Amino acid sequence: MPRLGIRTSGNLRSIAPPLWESDFLRACRGEPARRTPVWLMRQAGRYMEHYRGLRAKLSFLELCRNPAAAAEAALYARAWLDVDAAIVFSDILIVLEALGVPLRFEGDGPKLTALAGPAAVDSLRDPLQAAADLGYAHEAVRQTVAGLPADIPCIGFAGAPFTLAAYAIEGGGSRQFAKAKAFMYREPAAWHRLAASLATCIAEHANRQVAAGATAIQFFDSWAGCLSRPDYAEFALPHLRAAVQAVVPGVPVIVFGAATGHLLDLMASTGADVVGVDTGAALDQGWEAAGGPGRVAVQGNLDPAVLLAPSAVMRTRTDQVLAEAGGRPGHIFNLGHGIIKETPPEMARELVAYVHERSAR
Ligand code: CP3
Repeated sequence: MPRLGIRTSGNLRSIAPPLWESDFLRACRGEPARRTPVWLMRQAGRYMEHYRGLRAKLSFLELCRNPAAAAEAALYARAWLDVDAAIVFSDILIVLEALGVPLRFEGDGPKLTALAGPAAVDSLRDPLQAAADLGYAHEAVRQTVAGLPADIPCIGFAGAPFTLAAYAIEGGGSRQFAKAKAFMYREPAAWHRLAASLATCIAEHANRQVAAGATAIQFFDSWAGCLSRPDYAEFALPHLRAAVQAVVPGVPVIVFGAATGHLLDLMASTGADVVGVDTGAALDQGWEAAGGPGRVAVQGNLDPAVLLAPSAVMRTRTDQVLAEAGGRPGHIFNLGHGIIKETPPEMARELVAYVHERSAR
């Protein structure tokens, strides 16, 4: 049977041998690794004292726009945790800002000037130009890669079209996504123009991160789990698929969304190399649903709350995830969603060491 994710089949000459053979990139390609690679979503963030030190001097968006400081945040977290990959320090919402949607961060999270209707969609900026304007993020990738050991990859990322469109229409986060869904159903043509433009923008943004040295791309479809299968298939999937397919061949693509246990096969049908499994599905069942070992790799899925538990509980639950993976090639260990800001940093570091120790082959 052919692999669902065939994007990594081409050998990309620009990826140097120590990186190409890293456990992380081997797992992305479904090849055996020396030990299970591990990184943590939102690994550089508020749970870390070092990050809070950077934030004492810079607002969140100033930090995103300052390549040296962003690289420092990413590199410090990578080294301190001893994880198998860095992720560039940035945010999914900068793409919306570049497209002309004003963005600010206040107290409880992001605030955007909501897109009111089709006319607002049609007044957005050109998506290729918008991606080109994110040069500060691409420079942050360059500086992060320059500071990494030769065998540690840097993951670039972008928000997926559905999640970004939902943020733009809601003007921020939401519990039910009523405005975004109403727009999708009532103005389907404008919805598809918006999502297609977002797909073009994130693919260009991803490929500019690759040009700057990123050797994997993760698309965060954080809110896609709020969609039924038919709505996901109609309104989200075609645009995410277009973005995945547009990423430079040879660079593995990871697609992730929270609460997407019912969508994993559709997410895999984008052609992604790796599907993120959140905590809601058991890893082995999620892997089967996504197509199974040998066809697609998986990333996940320890409940982030387990890092608030005593060490013995963390170890038991970690063993459970590793047992579900069964040592089969193509597993990247991660949390089921982003790390919680109350997490004791020592516990995150202990988790990484424990995964390495238990999975050494
Ligand atoms: O993993 C990493 O270390 C890389 C950094 C990263 C950030 N945001 C930094 C950040 C990544 C990969 C993101 C992606 C992102 N941004 C997502 C998708 C990931 C997910 O959790 O599903 C989303 C939904 C956003 C949008 C966003 N950015 C929200 C909703 C918030 C505020 C609420 C929150 O959980 O913090 C942010 C702010 C943000 N992005 C912070 C960080 C470190 C905190 C900012 C601060 O107050 O210092």
